[in-house]
This record gives sequence, C-alpha cells and structure tokens, in this order.
Amino acid sequence: MARVAVVTGGTRGIGEAISIALKDMGMKVAATYAGNDERARAFSERTGIHAYKWDVADYDACQEGVKQVEADLGPVDVLVNNAGITRDSTMKRQSHEQWQDVIDTNLGGCFNMAKAVFEGMQSRGYGRIVNIGSINGQAGQYGQVNYAAAKSGIHGFTKALAQEGARAGVTVNAIAPGYIDTDMVAAVPAEVLGKIIAKIPVNRLGKADEIARGVSFLVADDAGFVTGSTLSINGGQHMY
Ligand code: CAA
Repeated sequence: MARVAVVTGGTRGIGEAISIALKDMGMKVAATYAGNDERARAFSERTGIHAYKWDVADYDACQEGVKQVEADLGPVDVLVNNAGITRDSTMKRQSHEQWQDVIDTNLGGCFNMAKAVFEGMQSRGYGRIVNIGSINGQAGQYGQVNYAAAKSGIHGFTKALAQEGARAGVTVNAIAPGYIDTDMVAAVPAEVLGKIIAKIPVNRLGKADEIARGVSFLVADDAGFVTGSTLSINGGQHMY
C-alpha cells in the first residue's frame, strides 16, 4: 500500500522539492499552501500532486484540511511540517504582529498539524513526522528573534514528541536547513546575503533538492530507529 504524505507549504521552494521526492518514493502526496494560488496551480499541473489550501496557523483549518486529505487519499502516514514565513527586523523595529505571525505559523503550525495526525499514527502503529527547523534556530540570526525562537522551538517540539511516538512506531525528526536557494532567501538584502554565503564552507547556497534528500531518508520505512534527531544540511555553516 502506498504511504500517504502531507507536506505543508508543499507547492514552492523546499516544500515543492519534498513533495516531488515523496511522490518519487511511491507515496500519495498532498501538498498544502496558504496563499499563492497561481504557483500552486502550476505546481499541480507540473507534478500531478493535488494542492490543498489552508493556513497552518489556523487550528480548525488544519483539522478540517487533514480530514479532507484522509477522505481523498487515506490515513496520513507521513507529515512534513515545512510551512514557514519570515518577518525579519531588528528587535527595536519588530512589531508584536511580526512576532506573533511567525510564532503562530512556523511553530504553531507544527502543533496544529501534528495534532491532526498523531493519534491516528499511534493507533495504526506507524508514522513519520519531519519538522523543518533552521540553522537560525540553532545559532540565532541578527534580525530574526521571532524566526529563531520559532525554529528553535521546533527542535524542542521534535525531541518531546519523539518520546511520545517512539513505542508506537511513530518517529519524529527535524532537519535544520542552512541558506537554501529559495524565494525566502532571495528576500534577504543582497549585501547581507553575500556576507552570509562567504561564511558557508561549501561556498554556495544549498538547493531545495538537498533538503528533500534528507527528508526521503527520515521518512523511509526502514528509518524506524532514527527518532528525535536533527539533521543539519547547511554546507558546513554551523556544525552542531
Ligand atoms: N551582526 C551585527 N550587526 C549587524 C548585523 C549582524 N549580523 N547585520 C546588520 N548589522 C548592523 C548593520 O551593520 C547596521 O549597523 P550600522 O547602522 O551601524 O551600519 C545595523 O545593524 C542595521 O542593519 P541594516 O541596515 O541591515 O538594518 P535594517 O533594519 O535595514 O535591516 C534586517 C535589518 C531586516 C535584519 C536585515 O539586516 C536583514 O534582512 N538581515 C538578514 C536576516 C536573515 O539572514 N534572514 C534569513 C532569512 S532566510 C531564512 O530565514 C531561511 C533559513 O532558515 C536560513
């Protein structure tokens, strides 16, 4: 039986690469997105993967959305919490709204989605959850107290939930990407980005496929002994 996977933020950037990689592994994939209808439509046409629109920061929308996916594809075996946003600004300028949006989406989204699938995974005795954290959750980053706090929270969330899932065959792991060539990183001012790239030992931005490679490993059926771990994929920028 083909595994059923949900990839949040799965129609663009790192999420798109993950959705395609899981489909290539033979899974039935549902990719969620929050707002960009045009990119989602193009993604679905190109890949044949159905895109579902809901906001991962909205608890009820996540519960309803997962119900719909399960009605369409079957019970969810694999969840990749990838959806994330940035609202970068120094503490002095950061508004409460910028703080809250990032916490609610990046960290709250992980809770909302895990809540919708975790019990089912436990009762069926199988599950794979991968949460996409960040190098900036491990090391901090100037201008990102909101993002670094949320991503750091993801790493704690992962280790705690891994302990709850372990006996029931539900693994929970994180990936901490470095700077990857996506729309999100393209939004960093060019001169700031240039300085960041100069500090990456591999001397380039990562590719979305290089993160998907790590996800494919963690969600495999035979990865059942890997849980509570964080896989850093960052070109050697932060060795943690
Ligand atoms: N360390 C110390 N000082 C720094 C600094 C740093 N890393 N970066 C900037 N500063 C200083 C500047 O030199 C400047 O000082 P002066 O006024 O004395 O010259 C001051 O801080 C203000 O800098 P900016 O002009 O850049 O300030 P700004 O308000 O225009 O912008 C910012 C601030 C929005 C945070 C901008 O610097 C920025 O976008 N930085 C990049 C943040 C970043 O890396 N985001 C990652 C996004 S991608 C992502 O998050 C994916 C992932 O998981 C990796």
